[in-house]
Amino acid sequence: MSQDAMKKAAAEAALAFVEPGMIIGIGTGSTANHFIDLLAGIKGKIDATVASSIASAERLKSHGIRVLDLNEAGQLSLYVDGADESTEHLHLVKGGGGALTREKIVAGASDKFVCIADDSKLVRTLGKFPLPIEVIPMARALVAREMVKMGGNPVLRQGFTTDNGNVILDIHNLTIMNPVEMEDRINRIPGVVTNGLFAIRPADVLILGGVGGVQTLI
Ligand code: A5P
Repeated sequence: MSQDAMKKAAAEAALAFVEPGMIIGIGTGSTANHFIDLLAGIKGKIDATVASSIASAERLKSHGIRVLDLNEAGQLSLYVDGADESTEHLHLVKGGGGALTREKIVAGASDKFVCIADDSKLVRTLGKFPLPIEVIPMARALVAREMVKMGGNPVLRQGFTTDNGNVILDIHNLTIMNPVEMEDRINRIPGVVTNGLFAIRPADVLILGGVGGVQTLI
């Protein structure tokens, strides 16, 4: 079974959380794309969606699925998105696709966050995947210096601008023993929009696709 098939299996299992009339928050990335494509098959069941990126909004619209602005939609019942890493406590690293800020906003506006991934994303300790930080461009060097003080090795994501017009620093070499504390600490650096740790508001459900089938962690 390929990694992509495992992602698709996790996305399929997440359909069980979709209830009639829902407005659903939609993540970004290859696993979220599987969920979007599967959602198209039951689009008559839901009311609308809110997208966490321009790319996801375009994919939803291409399937004829209604996409709302979050400010019109209000509180959402469900958010479905992928992750780059997760612990068994459902603390996540996200932002490999650079959509972390909108993802965190939509997750924060949702009652339930269902994270979908292949089982290679489950780790004992976060940090092997470089931690993305969205940064206001003029603060790039300041934030990089502060991250070096925290033991990280910041690398500017070359040629990439977020949907919000900012840059991404990918922080290598971090061993994140306390994700809640680190998420808060990084967010206090002036110029940081947000970082890719989802620990203050972790996922509520983690669905992992693997060779032996799908497992769900709550
Ligand atoms: C997008 O910015 C990310 O947070 C994605 O959710 C994450 O990178 C997972 O991507 P894949 O589903 O493509 O593995």
